[in-house]
Amino acid sequence: MKMNKKTILTILKKKQSGEKITMLTCYDYVTAKLISSQDIDVLLVGDSLGNVKLGYENTLSVTVDDMIYHTKSVKRGNYGALLITDMPFMSYEITIEDAVKNAARIVKESGAEAVKVEGGIEIADKVKAISDAKVPVVGHLGLTPQSINKFGGFKVQGRTEETRRRLIADAEALEKNGAFAVVLEAVPEQLAKEVTEQLKIPTIGIGSGRYCDGQVLVVDDMLGMFTDFTPKFVKKYAEVGETIRTAVKNYIDEVKKGQFPQEENIYK
Ligand code: KIV
Repeated sequence: MKMNKKTILTILKKKQSGEKITMLTCYDYVTAKLISSQDIDVLLVGDSLGNVKLGYENTLSVTVDDMIYHTKSVKRGNYGALLITDMPFMSYEITIEDAVKNAARIVKESGAEAVKVEGGIEIADKVKAISDAKVPVVGHLGLTPQSINKFGGFKVQGRTEETRRRLIADAEALEKNGAFAVVLEAVPEQLAKEVTEQLKIPTIGIGSGRYCDGQVLVVDDMLGMFTDFTPKFVKKYAEVGETIRTAVKNYIDEVKKGQFPQEENIYK
């Protein structure tokens, strides 16, 4: 299937034209084919794969190798979306050298076209170094799941005047240090609007209301496949989990009753 290749320029142009940016997470070849066949702008190999694919309680155990493994699979199924991969917990926070080396490994070994990191001012030097090393960087602010232990749980961020100011300063620091977009997660709608109006680079919202330049959801959430927990901001566009359960039940019943395989499923 031929699709127009999306790049970081596509995303930046959409900010200027006001056309909304579309992004979904993706972790494997088959899903990448299905999603990118619909001309989505961005596939994000999120470290949420720790929750939805590896069954961890949070994203902290995800490794650079996990991210590379899943990105390679998505890359093979992607028809033309911009491919962004999350840098996992502690792969970019400790030293600038670590951050650049791990970003470079992800791009070289997996074929990702950009990386995403969580945090603002405190990692601005790493964002600059990765971006200067020719790897485009997306920031991630608000509810950053890699900070779950610091936040004491999954909580909406930016509700007090102090955290509101800090979030705006973080977003500005990301832009100034070379990020080409910022994900805003679980940020009050008005604050997300303010940040979106203030930045020249696009904001991509998840649980951050209507005024961001684009939207992202975890694909397993929006398809109704992952039900361990479902945040309020998720809209379920399908009940694929239920479809799978019904299909598997029917398969088991038919095998038990000798109704499968049938004539058309048999080699003569
Ligand atoms: O890991 C992830 O899936 C993400 C999205 C929720 C933005 O960071």
